[in-house]
Amino acid sequence: MKTVSILAAFLAVVADAAPTVDELYPYTGPKVPVGDWMDPTVKGNGKGFVRLIEPPAVMPASTNPSNNVNVISVSYIPNGINIHYQTPFGLGEAPSVVWGTSASDLSNTATGKTVTYGRTPPCSLAATTQCSEFFHDVQISNLKSGATYFYRIPAANGTTASDILSFKTAQEAGDSSEFTVAVVNDMGYTNAGGTYKYLNEAINSGTAFVWHGGDLSYADDWYSGILPCESDWPVCYNGTSTRLPGDGDVPKEYDTPLPTGEIANQGGPQGGDMSVLYESNWDLWQQWMNPVTLKTPYMVLPGNHEASCAEFDGPGNVLTAYLNKAQPNGTAAKSSLTYYSCPPSQRNFTAFQNRFRMPGAETGGVGNFWYSFDYGLAHFVSLDGETDYADSPEWPFAKDVKGDQAHPFANQTYVTDSGPFGAVDGDYNDNKAYAQYRWLKKDLESVNRCKTPWVIAMSHRPFYSSQVSSYQKSIRAAFEDLMLQNGVDLYLSGHIHWYERLLPLGSNGTIDEASIINNNTYWTNPGVSMAHIINGAAGNIESHSTLGSSPLLDITTYLDQQNFGFGGLTVHNATALSWNYVLGSDGTTGDKLTLLKRDTSKRTCHSSGGSSSSTSVATAASSPATGATTITDTNSSGATMSVEYFSS
Ligand SMILES: *[C@@H]1O[C@H](CO)[C@@H](O)[C@H](O)[C@H]1NC(C)=O
Ligand SMILES: *[C@@H]1O[C@H](CO)[C@@H](O)[C@H](O)[C@H]1NC(C)=O
Ligand SMILES: *[C@@H]1O[C@H](CO)[C@@H](O)[C@H](O)[C@H]1NC(C)=O
Ligand SMILES: *[C@@H]1O[C@H](CO)[C@@H](O)[C@H](O)[C@H]1NC(C)=O
Ligand SMILES: *[C@@H]1O[C@H](CO)[C@@H](O)[C@H](O)[C@H]1NC(C)=O
Ligand SMILES: *[C@@H]1O[C@H](CO)[C@@H](O)[C@H](O)[C@H]1NC(C)=O
Ligand SMILES: *[C@@H]1O[C@H](CO)[C@@H](O)[C@H](O)[C@H]1NC(C)=O
Ligand SMILES: *[C@@H]1O[C@H](CO)[C@@H](O)[C@H](O)[C@H]1NC(C)=O
Ligand SMILES: *[C@@H]1O[C@H](CO)[C@@H](O)[C@H](O)[C@H]1NC(C)=O
Repeated sequence: MKTVSILAAFLAVVADAAPTVDELYPYTGPKVPVGDWMDPTVKGNGKGFVRLIEPPAVMPASTNPSNNVNVISVSYIPNGINIHYQTPFGLGEAPSVVWGTSASDLSNTATGKTVTYGRTPPCSLAATTQCSEFFHDVQISNLKSGATYFYRIPAANGTTASDILSFKTAQEAGDSSEFTVAVVNDMGYTNAGGTYKYLNEAINSGTAFVWHGGDLSYADDWYSGILPCESDWPVCYNGTSTRLPGDGDVPKEYDTPLPTGEIANQGGPQGGDMSVLYESNWDLWQQWMNPVTLKTPYMVLPGNHEASCAEFDGPGNVLTAYLNKAQPNGTAAKSSLTYYSCPPSQRNFTAFQNRFRMPGAETGGVGNFWYSFDYGLAHFVSLDGETDYADSPEWPFAKDVKGDQAHPFANQTYVTDSGPFGAVDGDYNDNKAYAQYRWLKKDLESVNRCKTPWVIAMSHRPFYSSQVSSYQKSIRAAFEDLMLQNGVDLYLSGHIHWYERLLPLGSNGTIDEASIINNNTYWTNPGVSMAHIINGAAGNIESHSTLGSSPLLDITTYLDQQNFGFGGLTVHNATALSWNYVLGSDGTTGDKLTLLKRDTSKRTCHSSGGSSSSTSVATAASSPATGATTITDTNSSGATMSVEYFSS
């Protein structure tokens, strides 16, 4: 295994190793950047559509800057913040940030680390204010909780200093102040204008942070714009409408041929085509998100669209012809996309690993893949639903090898092969062998429920849905028992491009009738069931999923296949949490759910990780056999009941 980053070797200030990709077999694709066959001059497609541009995070002082800060994105680390910023060229020094508790006193300086990877095209061929190739991370730790800090990124090697910006640190675990989080999934640029508008409004009215459960930029859908248009392939339409393909009623725009020589207008918020270059799509989406990410922590986790330069071929196998044989606009008899079809820098979640900085290392997890954090009364768990468990949808080479092969042949691999990102100690078919499983177990078991009574987990993939798929069985096998046993209250996901709310479900999809108070209100039921929401309709170039002729299952209580939007999750106090599905069309509420905990005022809570504390006179009988604690409690009607509270 070699590392992608050749440039890294020449940098004075590079500390962290770049992500690894396998290069045993040669890349045989086009020399021009992937996606740019329409016009190899990378600054425009020359076919009548202006390449979209978004302002950089820092407006350069000169009209012809030699370097610039194009993206700024902050995220939580324990007791602090990570300030991530991106430039097209190196800084010639360690990246830094000056900061303080008031805008007029930025007397502290923090320095950090730079990483880079051999992206194609390199930023030397692109517009300086629209390209990122050097990724800087500066951490400020030991900050006060729930406090606002001010910062500025100083000028270095041709960049312009940023304005004085600010961020707010997380409320201390146990702080009982109410807060709201925006939860986004499957967004991209196309069709996401409404989500974007109301997300910005939410941020400007105090939303604490954004939690994005994967499928961030849809950079890998660059090839949508070059595939022939077919009625069952909705990606070539002018994506400003929410009308759906299929089911006999094909909207006219799907069948209307595009003018000769033009690629599809993918209908971003301002029109125009997004899908031209893999890396440019990343740059565009990240720059679009700057107004949110430069001041509000933006916590991400991986989705399938982060894996590599493409997911699968389309009609005529034009992608196989292009990526494997460098034949623009050709066809191939069969699809044979392999791991080696993408340029090396576009394999194995490389862009995702460089363009964000999540607190994996600080919380015992791995990179941007799995980690956790506390905010006030809640513990948030980010999981990797793509790799690092048995039969994961993106899989390691271990799944491709046959017999006693040590390494698969190129033709035995698949284009999205990725990971593992953590250790696998034992058989890769055994969930318990995976570092991610062991981390989740430890993380959940050490939650101090006195401080963070709410535990909310998210990965990109749903456990259940009316759109039944085999991956759901695999991800359930990996994580469901651990989550139920440890009293996770709410499991969020996306991946399916619709909004779907399920009833509270126990193991194997059993509906927990006893926890349904009414259509929009559930009790939490630790050890027995959890609430599930599939929130996969923030936008994106592929448009909505449809149920088609499949039945709506009885686990689904609300399904919206028409609107785009995102979730607003409010933790009110230790016993009430509410969720609103915010519609991108007008910002109104499309669905709501309230989760209530049975009165905890008389409950004893324990934690093996945090300090055990007693807030009550309740009798707690420990049951060593299961690790559960049975608590005699009083519910809101004053009746005595027993609640099993799993905590160690
Ligand atoms: C992906 O990256 C991980 C971590 O760097 C590495 O262990 C793994 O072998 C890589 N997988 C592939 C398929 O390149
Ligand atoms: C400084 O920026 C220039 C481009 O303006 C770039 O060529 C050079 O490599 C950068 N210096 C360092 C040390 O990265
Ligand atoms: C795409 O949609 C926009 C907005 O509805 C419309 O103004 C434009 O004419 C459409 N373009 C094409 C090529 O249909
Ligand atoms: C691609 O090929 C098709 C079919 O041969 C042709 O109609 C189309 O104009 C070609 N597009 C480009 C951009 O070369
Ligand atoms: C796959 O590649 C190997 C090694 O190059 C070759 O021997 C084998 O015939 C190929 N298999 C197929 C089905 O093409
Ligand atoms: C789980 O549910 C499936 C589908 O309803 C059913 O076929 C299976 O028998 C159930 N398994 C268990 C262990 O209850
Ligand atoms: C918790 O918040 C809910 C919703 O705002 C409210 O109805 C309830 O009274 C609160 N409970 C306590 C104990 O403050
Ligand atoms: C349940 O709630 C959904 C939206 O939250 C609503 O559309 C539906 O009509 C409600 N059903 C009943 C039976 O009240
Ligand atoms: C309280 O508990 C009693 C006894 O288990 C039960 O009958 C009643 O429905 C419960 N009330 C609520 C609001 O959960």
